[in-house]
Amino acid sequence: MDLLLLGGTGFLSRTVAEEAVSRGHRVTALTRGVSGAPPNGVTAVHADRNAADEMARAVRSVKVAAVIDMSGETVAAARIAARELASADSYVYVSSMNAYRNWPPGPVRGEDDPLWDEESDAYGPVKAAGERILSRAFGDRLLSARAGVIVGPREIGGRLTAWLHRISAGGRIAVPDALDQPMAFVDVRDLASWLVDAAERGMSGPVTATGPYGMTTYGGLLRACRETVSATGGPASELVPITEKTLLEAGVQPWRHLPFWLPEEVARTAWQIETATARRLGLPSRPIEATVAGTWEWMRRAGTAAYQAGQAHGLPPELERSLLS
Ligand SMILES: NC(=O)c1ccc[n+]([C@@H]2O[C@H](COP(=O)([O-])OP(=O)(O)OC[C@H]3O[C@@H](n4cnc5c(N)ncnc54)[C@H](OP(=O)(O)O)[C@@H]3O)[C@@H](O)[C@H]2O)c1
Repeated sequence: MDLLLLGGTGFLSRTVAEEAVSRGHRVTALTRGVSGAPPNGVTAVHADRNAADEMARAVRSVKVAAVIDMSGETVAAARIAARELASADSYVYVSSMNAYRNWPPGPVRGEDDPLWDEESDAYGPVKAAGERILSRAFGDRLLSARAGVIVGPREIGGRLTAWLHRISAGGRIAVPDALDQPMAFVDVRDLASWLVDAAERGMSGPVTATGPYGMTTYGGLLRACRETVSATGGPASELVPITEKTLLEAGVQPWRHLPFWLPEEVARTAWQIETATARRLGLPSRPIEATVAGTWEWMRRAGTAAYQAGQAHGLPPELERSLLS
């Protein structure tokens, strides 16, 4: 199949590129060319997809049966893609859970839950507008994958990588005491292989694309991180649960300082996401232990400087020291 990727050099999009090449597709990756080259076997074309003339020029000579769109961050980008790629047999758009107006805090009960419908440059409304624009252009040739929290190898500067990095330093580690909080993630490799399935099979409709609620808990995730690090000779560590009140009073920022942590009032519903459609359409969900192991293996190979580039997540050391004292 002649597959055009909008993206192809980052986290999800590079994983999709590798998967598509491994299945024997003829793959073209359209990027600006600022995040490096796509994997071997992929043809690179360069354009800023927000610039109509650049896009028109770049796709003119590309054969396109299917598109997987992983770089849609503006309304203009969706409009231009709808126009320039209108003849594609299938269009897979990576949207986000943030397209749901009520999420967070949620819960998300199904794909019919209301989406943002206002004009805005904010992430969620832009993703929702992108879905509407592409849906008008492609109808039942469009699949909108409303991705949940994506984790796995190559999450540079990411959230799971922040936890693994901290745990690999050992010692006493401040963690939220909400260890029984059920959670759900999607492994980047599971999502990537399913997105290629979707393009191959011409799946359509909106799909909340994440793992099943309760596939793990906060404690289960941290346990998997500790066991994985210790299996490769990492230092001993002790998880020290801290109450929400103490964390908030100390100025700990939910999600950013303690990745995946949300105050109980939000967490109770934010992780409650109905994924029956995704399960019916075959989105895989590997165990969190396998995601953690794959991520750690990649981190060890890539090296600290590579996986920590632009790191925005994790507890500042002085804040952790004061929480533990
Ligand atoms: N990460 C998550 O947890 C998460 C959750 C829900 C949804 N999503 C969605 O998943 C998709 C993939 O996210 P990701 O973080 O994994 O992205 P990614 O694959 O790391 O990178 C995005 C790709 O798009 C290209 N790109 C960016 N801006 C572009 C532009 N203006 N014109 C042309 N190409 C452009 C980049 O290459 P260049 O820089 O070289 O242009 C890169 O190849 C996004 O649509 C995101 O909104 C992510």
